[in-house]
Amino acid sequence: MRRSYVVGNWKMNGDGSSLSEARSIAEAASRHPEVDVAICPPFTLIERMARALPTLAVGGQDCHPAPSGAHTGSVAAAMLAEAGAKLVILGHSERREGFGESDELVRRKVEAALAANLGVILCVGEPLSVREEGRAEAYVLAQLAGSLPYALLAEPSRVAIAYEPIWAIGTGLTPSLEDIAAMHAAVRGALGDAGEEMAILYGGSVNAENAAQILSLDDVDGALVGGASLKAASFAAIIAAAN
Ligand code: 13P
Repeated sequence: MRRSYVVGNWKMNGDGSSLSEARSIAEAASRHPEVDVAICPPFTLIERMARALPTLAVGGQDCHPAPSGAHTGSVAAAMLAEAGAKLVILGHSERREGFGESDELVRRKVEAALAANLGVILCVGEPLSVREEGRAEAYVLAQLAGSLPYALLAEPSRVAIAYEPIWAIGTGLTPSLEDIAAMHAAVRGALGDAGEEMAILYGGSVNAENAAQILSLDDVDGALVGGASLKAASFAAIIAAAN
């Protein structure tokens, strides 16, 4: 039986004053012990949040594939772990598109994160033009094949896949429930036996109003939430809907 998993991606939002919001989220999470909850704040907040809120899983939003070296501005997976991170989001479309990250680079990041004992949320998702051309499933499955290390299929509990259609991120648009269900079933099928254990999350304009319907779909094990994770009230409602 896969557990429900709800993850907040704070993106480039939040400072020290946001810790009180995170505390309210941790309190809401403690009322739903059957749901795994994590927050991925900017790098600068990871250590403070992990120290202040030991019951909450705190994660990063990216890491470098190398363990150390001349990579100005980057952070290694082991550095995240040392700061108190338990997981890292990798391959988010804002990194794939905004920073030119290829499937191959994302795969090396996943390997680095696993070597540092971090859990991974691996993001995949199609742009609107690909959905309109009817190629969304093939596109997402190719991304998955390119960015998921083969060896990982032997350790499925350490990775969750997040299906985030790019056109649904921050737009208020979501695919139909049928389209979400079909994509999640396709991803599950492509994972083979590992798919029985691996959580598949949906992300893209999840909010307090639409979460219950999306999370009730068979192959949707949780949500990766951007904007609605910044406020405890809306994020707590999504956690409750994941019951
Ligand atoms: P929104 O929930 O703001 O659409 O963002 C989704 C996302 O990109 C989470 O990683």
